[in-house]
Amino acid sequence: MQFRQLGRTQLMVSELSLGAARGAVRDRPRFVEAVQAALAAGVNFIDTAAGYDDGVSEEVLGEALVGHDEVIVETKYRPYDGWGPAAAYTGSPAALVASAEESLRRLRRDRLDILLGHGLRTRESFDRFMHDGCYDAMVRLREQGKVRFIGISELSEGDGEHQILRTAVPTGAFDVVMLTLNILLQTAAESVLPLCRQHNVGTVVMMPLNQASRTSGLVSVPAALECVRRHVAAGNLPAEAPYTEATLFDFLQPYSVPEASLRYVLAHDVSTCCVGMSSVDRVHANLRALERPYLDAERLQRIRRLFGGIRSQVL
Ligand SMILES: NC(=O)c1ccc[n+]([C@@H]2O[C@H](COP(=O)([O-])OP(=O)(O)OC[C@H]3O[C@@H](n4cnc5c(N)ncnc54)[C@H](OP(=O)(O)O)[C@@H]3O)[C@@H](O)[C@H]2O)c1
Repeated sequence: MQFRQLGRTQLMVSELSLGAARGAVRDRPRFVEAVQAALAAGVNFIDTAAGYDDGVSEEVLGEALVGHDEVIVETKYRPYDGWGPAAAYTGSPAALVASAEESLRRLRRDRLDILLGHGLRTRESFDRFMHDGCYDAMVRLREQGKVRFIGISELSEGDGEHQILRTAVPTGAFDVVMLTLNILLQTAAESVLPLCRQHNVGTVVMMPLNQASRTSGLVSVPAALECVRRHVAAGNLPAEAPYTEATLFDFLQPYSVPEASLRYVLAHDVSTCCVGMSSVDRVHANLRALERPYLDAERLQRIRRLFGGIRSQVL
């Protein structure tokens, strides 16, 4: 396992990290085995949130990480009343502190390594978060030693403008951000990553497989083709060859679509590529992406030529 610096935090994080958004409720023992396999392979960074599986993700991690204080756990407080883009802002400093306390309890830790504002989605709600006491509460938690580092994540269903992160990063207010970067939404590479480098902010990439479901996402050739079909239907890609051809992703071989997708992310200057994995097999499959070189210049160029024009996400 190779480690990369998480911006100004000075923490060294494994380049592949574990996203714990799914799986803890679906099959707890299988999920715990996946966590253990990831740790055995050198993964030292896990992303969770108070809202994942209604706290069960944190609870299961708390149990699985007993004796593993060295593992860096990132968790989140969601200042909205729902998950989607239309959710209303409901953030308050009291709720943020209560959520952080609950996270500490469920994770069985004295201190949260990283606390993020979860899924900041509009400029207006971001401004509220910064000025209604929520941001100050995060800073106070850091001063009190209950949290080591603070940050925000953008919304999964966000567009390619990355407006919130482009606003947030230059303020210097945050140590870490979580952002979307994948083959089918490459925009952060040009807009957010250079800013993060400039301001020494740690970058945790979410959804490297485009928040895969069984039918759409960068998890297999048919699912990736379905994702492309959705982009064509949304007008993000032309309704013509090669986008309409079943051979579209053949150039990624010998890599599978998920392996090439992780390699694409790892080829960028990001701190860690955080992928959801809820079984030991997934962990082992994804470790294959760590072999260098991640992707050759020709494949990278082709990926950029084919999909670099996509400016909004289709899930
Ligand atoms: N706004 C935010 O803050 C935000 C939003 C989204 C995600 N996140 C974080 O980022 C993490 C990663 O994002 P994500 O889980 O949404 O999406 P993702 O990592 O793009 O996709 C995860 C899905 O891909 C499957 N998968 C993983 N490796 C695979 C492989 N080698 N072959 C086939 N399928 C594979 C997993 O299946 P199994 O479950 O069956 O293993 C899971 O369903 C999340 O877990 C979460 O921690 C944060």
